[in-house]
Amino acid sequence: MFAGEDTNNYFESGHSEQKKASSKIARFTLPKLPDHFSAWVDQHSFDVVTVCDLSGHLVYVSQSVSHVLGYSPEQLLGDFVLDYVSPTNQTEILSKIPIQTEASSRFHVSIRNHSGKFIWMETVIARLLHKDTNVDLYLCITRDITDKKEAEEMMIRSEKMSVSGQLAAGIAHEIRNPLTSLKGFVRLLQTGSEKKEDYFKIMIDEIEKMENITSELLFVAKPMTDDKANVRLSEMISDVITLLQPQANMQALELQVKLEHNPVLYCDKSQIKQVFINLIKNAIEAMDKSGVIRIESHIAQEQCHIDIIDEGPGIPLSIIHKVKEPFFTTKKDGTGLGLMICNQILEHHNGSLSIFQNAETSGSTFRVSLPVELL
Ligand SMILES: Nc1ncnc2c1ncn2[C@@H]1O[C@H](COP(=O)(O)OP(=O)(O)OP(=O)(O)O)[C@@H](O)[C@H]1O
Ligand SMILES: [Mg+2]
Repeated sequence: MFAGEDTNNYFESGHSEQKKASSKIARFTLPKLPDHFSAWVDQHSFDVVTVCDLSGHLVYVSQSVSHVLGYSPEQLLGDFVLDYVSPTNQTEILSKIPIQTEASSRFHVSIRNHSGKFIWMETVIARLLHKDTNVDLYLCITRDITDKKEAEEMMIRSEKMSVSGQLAAGIAHEIRNPLTSLKGFVRLLQTGSEKKEDYFKIMIDEIEKMENITSELLFVAKPMTDDKANVRLSEMISDVITLLQPQANMQALELQVKLEHNPVLYCDKSQIKQVFINLIKNAIEAMDKSGVIRIESHIAQEQCHIDIIDEGPGIPLSIIHKVKEPFFTTKKDGTGLGLMICNQILEHHNGSLSIFQNAETSGSTFRVSLPVELL
């Protein structure tokens, strides 16, 4: 190297990426950004940046809040942040706020905008130390995810509609029998039969059976709710069996339930029922001859495991890694959303879905694991 040669020449061979970068900075030192540049970024960003004190009051809100939520920052300063969170979402949000300095978390939150509508936003929040004041503050970056949520809900809804359509044939078949017997009893009553009370009892039983099946079918077609409560496992399983028994009957399949434990689960009942419907429906579809589908539960390490065990052909190793992907299906009329939705719902409940191939018999086991509260 010659004396006086520019040692920052980054074209020189053998320089590391790091050296290149630092020499670039040395050559093209950026001018200090004028204030109106950062004001422009602040105004046009898709994200809202907020800072809260430890009591949850807003001490800074970026200008972008005006086009994202419709408020002006001045309107919000000093307000208690939870007052803008949907009441149904508040307890969950409180449990996710980081308690220690430098900790952070990411979650979805439903926030009221200026016109009073709740919109879904994704937030990342960190608890950081403000070095000058030696006080911790919460720094949040929040983004509108309404479109993403709506697309997800559309997918779930189309899957629910397709499930109810697929189950309708079995259900129509199942309610034809009680209808035929009801018609018979009405005819008998018309003839002025003596055993009126006995007939009425049978007729009411038959009507209740039809009522249960149809209300379960209507439930599947409804949009998914999002509210968690304590629910007994057996209650959810028995509702799902009512709905799927007709489909199983059409294929001469037995649905065998053995709940070794019957815990209370803190969950959204409609969502967890949807998980069982998707899994048992898959099990039924996997079995082309008569046999047994077992639904068994046990508890281990504060988790309730519910296994759906079928006697079908199992899942080929070549596709097992793909089955939870959206739109993956090997069925003529499948949408390939069933397992993806199960996975999504279970993640939302801090649970999981695992798949095992049965070693002794053929078939697969789908295991739903959920945190349990033993009451
Ligand atoms: N119990 C099972 N036995 C064998 N293969 C299964 C079983 N469950 C799922 N699969 C495989 O995983 C694929 C994806 O299942 P998923 O439930 O996501 O969609 P689908 O059943 O094909 O369609 P949809 O549920 O939307 O009607 C299935 O097409 C099938 O190949
Ligand atoms: Mg399916």
